[in-house]
Amino acid sequence: MRIAIYPGSFDPLTNGHLDVLQRATKLFQRVIVAVAKNESKNPLFTPAERVALIKEGIGHLANVEVDAFDGLLVDYVRRHQASAIVRGLRAVSDFEFEFQMALMNRKLDESIETIFMMPKDTYTFISSRIVKEIAKLGGDISPFVPPHVETALKKKLKVPKKA
Ligand code: PNS
Repeated sequence: MRIAIYPGSFDPLTNGHLDVLQRATKLFQRVIVAVAKNESKNPLFTPAERVALIKEGIGHLANVEVDAFDGLLVDYVRRHQASAIVRGLRAVSDFEFEFQMALMNRKLDESIETIFMMPKDTYTFISSRIVKEIAKLGGDISPFVPPHVETALKKKLKVPKKA
């Protein structure tokens, strides 16, 4: 069985993440979305909250599981007998970091491939960081995240309802 791990902070899930995930499910029999606990990144949502938001967003996808992880990604990949890491690539600006990570992970384990997938062009400018900033400043984030994530973000950030 071809298994892929789709790792990330997912703080929070965006429509861009969902687009990449959907594409990955067509290539792999099982895709595990692995939420990095990443406390050093000071996430807005706890790992459990991020996992729950993803689970709520993937009802339409049959071969996806969601989990949280700590420690080295390659160890997690090996533990789950996966053969690939899936990462979304939006723009040239993503490339340097992604290239470094992919080659480092390959150095750590030659048997694991990293597969990059481009999201739909309308999602290429979306990032969790920018979505959080727009939400914090009272902007409309509905085109960028699923409705339940929008609700959770507004609640978390205590954004007042518009009159
Ligand atoms: O969504 P992000 O924040 O860009 O995801 C980055 C992530 C979680 C994939 C990366 O930080 C990671 O793999 N962390 C696990 C620790 C690890 O293995 N680090 C070495 C990677 S070369």
